[in-house]
Amino acid sequence: MAGPKADPGARDPRFIRVEFPAPAVSGEGPFEHVALVTLDRPEVLNALNYRLLGELASSLEALDADEACHCVVITGAGERAFAAGADIKEMADQTPVGLTRKNHFARWERIKRVRTPLIAAVRGYALGGGCELAMACDMIVAADDAVFGQPEIRIGVMPGAGGTQRLARAIGKARAMELILTGDQLPAREAAALGLVTRVVPPEETLLAALRLAARVASMPPVAVLAAKEAVNRAFELSLEAGLEFERRNFFLLFASDDQKEGMAAFIEKRSPTWKGR
Ligand code: CAA
Repeated sequence: MAGPKADPGARDPRFIRVEFPAPAVSGEGPFEHVALVTLDRPEVLNALNYRLLGELASSLEALDADEACHCVVITGAGERAFAAGADIKEMADQTPVGLTRKNHFARWERIKRVRTPLIAAVRGYALGGGCELAMACDMIVAADDAVFGQPEIRIGVMPGAGGTQRLARAIGKARAMELILTGDQLPAREAAALGLVTRVVPPEETLLAALRLAARVASMPPVAVLAAKEAVNRAFELSLEAGLEFERRNFFLLFASDDQKEGMAAFIEKRSPTWKGR
């Protein structure tokens, strides 16, 4: 299945490409149970206009509703950028009243609500909203030429789609504050050292590395994956006590699944498990 079928929620989709299952890359694949979603405005470094964000949210919601989809890789078209931020030309004339009434930024909440694991495959610039989108994903695989940053201060504003919150949580207050108040860029290797990205690879291997990681996640029992993702994300939102309680309830709940019985039986019988997703 490819493209529009996986994207029924978007009208006339143009700025997002959906391939499910993800196609072969460098002779490896296709990747069963993995979807590839491409931000497709390379002529403007995949700048995130409202329409692209709407198509992205709708595409992710459609994939999230598809039980066959176990993991999603999000990448940018071209070699220069994951995304160079919100579309400055579209934003320049906005007013507070218009922003409030139209509520385009609610699309970011829709992306946050996606339960299927999301992996960002980042080449080149991930700036402003592009950095915020990468951080809204569950893991980031970065090319060694990737740069992250929140340069909004240089155009008279500040991050508005999660940058102040997620960057500070990911790399700590001091460095996040420096990056947000200066607009400086954070190179991939330093981003990895600070814990923002899960691994750094040569640029031409970025997509394949992300798809391989996605395939490993997709091969795990899906209900346990959903429950574990939910619990890790609570670590950033709850007190330790409430988070531990949440974790324990999800852990107990998984004992109602066929996959728990299968996983433990397979271990004891020294064989590979066959997951049912139930
Ligand atoms: N919005 C709209 N268009 C953009 C864009 C953006 N964020 N970033 C790049 N483009 C466009 C450029 O206007 C240019 O288009 P034209 O050819 O029509 O002029 C094209 O993409 C290529 O860009 P450059 O010529 O600027 O390429 P470069 O190599 O000289 O510079 C760059 C690359 C450093 C990334 C530079 O493009 C840049 O600084 N971009 C803006 C980065 C930014 O400020 N992002 C934050 C946006 S605000 C935000 O994201 C708010 C939020 O939190 C939601």
